[in-house]
Amino acid sequence: MSDELLARANADRDEAVGRLGAAGTLAELREVEVQVLGRKAALSELKGSMRGLSEDDRRRVGRVLEEALAELRQAAQDRRARLEAEEEGRALEADRVDVTLPGPGPLPGHPHPISLMLERIVDVFVAMGYRVAEGPEVETDWYNFEALNMPPDHPARSLWDTLYVAGSNTMLRPHTSPVQIRAMQAQRPPIYIIAPERCARRDAFDASHSPVFHQVEGLAVDTGITFSDLKGTLLAFTAEIFGEGRRTRFRPSYFPFTEPSAEMDVACPTCEGAGCSACGRSGWIELLGAGMVHPKVLTNVGYDPEQVSGFAFGMGVDRTAMRAFGITDIRQLFYNDVRFLARFAG
Ligand code: FA5
Repeated sequence: MSDELLARANADRDEAVGRLGAAGTLAELREVEVQVLGRKAALSELKGSMRGLSEDDRRRVGRVLEEALAELRQAAQDRRARLEAEEEGRALEADRVDVTLPGPGPLPGHPHPISLMLERIVDVFVAMGYRVAEGPEVETDWYNFEALNMPPDHPARSLWDTLYVAGSNTMLRPHTSPVQIRAMQAQRPPIYIIAPERCARRDAFDASHSPVFHQVEGLAVDTGITFSDLKGTLLAFTAEIFGEGRRTRFRPSYFPFTEPSAEMDVACPTCEGAGCSACGRSGWIELLGAGMVHPKVLTNVGYDPEQVSGFAFGMGVDRTAMRAFGITDIRQLFYNDVRFLARFAG
């Protein structure tokens, strides 16, 4: 009887060792373990058959069964170690980095929307025969104000409240109009110039104002220039930039260096004129100031206002870009968020 049990124990053990060794995955191994080592396993059941044996035989068969179970546990452990090593090897292989592959290439840059708009504006005026003029970003009081008919204490100076350079009467220019004076000093009429430049003002950063922004100044001085020339030029410009049929309007305004003066607005890109937070509920975005060059300004640069006349305008490039590209908040132009700027690639 005991010999028969021993033979069955050996056969069960051999079969179980074979099954444990054949488990192909850790999950499969767990299943086989329950079957060959659990309470219902063949070897465990053999223990129940020892009841009829003599004490000596029970001890002998019991030892053999314990040894067989220990062997199975060892076989399961070996198989688990092997499968885990194989699994790790597969994961490492999947994660392998090929250091010989070429890295991601440098991202090609593209122009900022303000640069795009500056280029477009310049192109429109150059096609009309204008030339690009320049002036310094840090200007003197004379060019910024006095030559533009704003003597010291003139109340209109407060319209261009700006950032002075400490201990001097120079400042970050608050507008591009001083370039008019420099251009008129540098040559005699006829003059047709534009000046695309950066400006700074003590303005709070909000949806339509930036303390640093860009303007394009325009100046035409010749014989017989009239307000109709100014209007025609600006309407041709807006048609080019915004497309025919874009709603614009001229409003009478005041600038000390032009007479008469006007401001030109374009319908707000966000609300199309209905009124929203981007346009201060007015439905319009102010684009530029303009007018006929004041006789005093012509005299200040040595021109005879009886002989020549001219018009001038100063437009906000950032706001023109907002209108043309459907940008609702000017601050987006200055945050340098590449996700926003990527819209203007290509
Ligand atoms: C001027 O600066 C005058 N020099 C324009 C001018 C030139 C009038 C020649 C007559 C003859 P104004 O302050 O309105 O005017 O500014 C002109 C434009 O610059 C505005 O219409 C607006 O589009 C833009 N601008 C002004 N301040 C800001 C700002 N803080 N942020 C963004 N754009 C601005």
